[in-house]
Amino acid sequence: MSPTTRPILDMNAFDAAQDPGADSALLHRRQRNAGAASVLFYRRPLEVTRASGCWIEATDGTRFLDFYNNVPSVGHCHPRVVAAISRQVATLNIHTRYLNHPTEDYLDRLKTTLPDALSNVVLGCTGSEANDLALRIAMTATGHTGFVVTETAYHGNTSAVTDISPSATKFGTPPSHVCMVPAPGPLNYGDDIAGGFRAAVERAIMTLGQRGHAPAALICDSLFSSDGVFADPPGFLAPAVDAMQAAGGLFIADEVQPGFARTGDAFWGFGRHGVVPDIVTMGKPMANGYPMSGVATRPELLARFCEGVGYFNTFGGNPVAAAAGLAVLEVIEDEGLQANAQAIGRHLMDRLDALARTDPRVAAVRGAGLFIGVDLCRDGDPTRPDPELTSSVINGLRDRRVLIGAAGRYGHTLKIRPPLCLNRDEADFFLDALAETLAATPSPRATRSPKAPRSPKAPRSPKAPRSPKAPRSPRATRSP
Ligand SMILES: Cc1ncc(COP(=O)(O)O)c(C=O)c1O
Repeated sequence: MSPTTRPILDMNAFDAAQDPGADSALLHRRQRNAGAASVLFYRRPLEVTRASGCWIEATDGTRFLDFYNNVPSVGHCHPRVVAAISRQVATLNIHTRYLNHPTEDYLDRLKTTLPDALSNVVLGCTGSEANDLALRIAMTATGHTGFVVTETAYHGNTSAVTDISPSATKFGTPPSHVCMVPAPGPLNYGDDIAGGFRAAVERAIMTLGQRGHAPAALICDSLFSSDGVFADPPGFLAPAVDAMQAAGGLFIADEVQPGFARTGDAFWGFGRHGVVPDIVTMGKPMANGYPMSGVATRPELLARFCEGVGYFNTFGGNPVAAAAGLAVLEVIEDEGLQANAQAIGRHLMDRLDALARTDPRVAAVRGAGLFIGVDLCRDGDPTRPDPELTSSVINGLRDRRVLIGAAGRYGHTLKIRPPLCLNRDEADFFLDALAETLAATPSPRATRSPKAPRSPKAPRSPKAPRSPKAPRSPRATRSP
């Protein structure tokens, strides 16, 4: 039996069909209120009441270490962010068509982190909204309609953005103006990830041409989070970006996941690859939980877009969002969170590599800073992903008071993404819990699954990412 491609929202999702009798009045209220659109984590959903730093407290007082949350990225309820929001909401909170100091102070500070060329920034409320605008800017600027995306990408929930998010849809393939390329791992491209990924993008551009769509853009999460986290080798993205730009398209770096210092070695994920995107989109950690997103681009691209359409956003970058966003930038700098992400990330990688040497089910460890993917596979074979084991480990970690999620095409990649203020003791708490959980979780009886038809065995060098190329299967359903 070959593994099934999974929609991103199906990963570690509560399934009422599996546990209809879940004994929670709050759960039943949620289901009555949100109906089929209710998406919850865990076989037994968690009821939470408060949070601080890297810890979330459940209704019964149990404290859980948050290893999954990329929104309160400088720490849950960080006092400086709380104070900034409180001050501003008590002073002025207004829509965005009046001049005010907090918004311009924020943008001036944000731009110090971006390449000089990207000197215009449009603020919004969600990452989806930012990517939706980015697509429109790219189409207007190029006069083209085609997009190249990775095969397990997630970029958000508007209609246009769902079209470029293969991991969001449960059936079928993306529409004809969207062409997918395999994730940039060694099991798809061997040792030459840069060359292989570039060639895949070139083929996708040709395919789009055959379908009548010239390329408007290559859009990538620059850490390939939902694809399973692919960071290495640094620079591998540059040739693919060159190929897209040579064909008349743009490069959109979706920084909703990797942005704001998470990768440790750079403030933005694209920094790792030495490229200057035409458009950068950002969201999630931008205001530590206050809804805020942004699109940074070159003035001429934005001017071209605004020639044809009026763009206005009621809430995007209002004074309260700006105050929260400014506090986040100050905390990242004053508390040295980028350096912390690098140091604690290295400690995590070292101990995870050691675990991989003793437990063959840990088939690959890869990432940058505090964003790490760990593939769990059968019998130490990186071509045989084990999403059932991954799901058991996620639930076993919950029993040991650690919250974590899954990613990857088959849902077999543990997604390690704690707040940036994680300390060494907290990292060790997780690592000990993971080792205990694996030791207590027997592998399901091995069933032979077919090998991937086009997957060379991943090199097991500590430098090269070691992601498996799993057997290709028809899509069933998938979930961010
Ligand atoms: C890479 C990426 N881009 C965009 C989005 C969409 O952001 P939002 O949920 O704020 O609309 C997500 C959300 O998970 C994401 O992971």
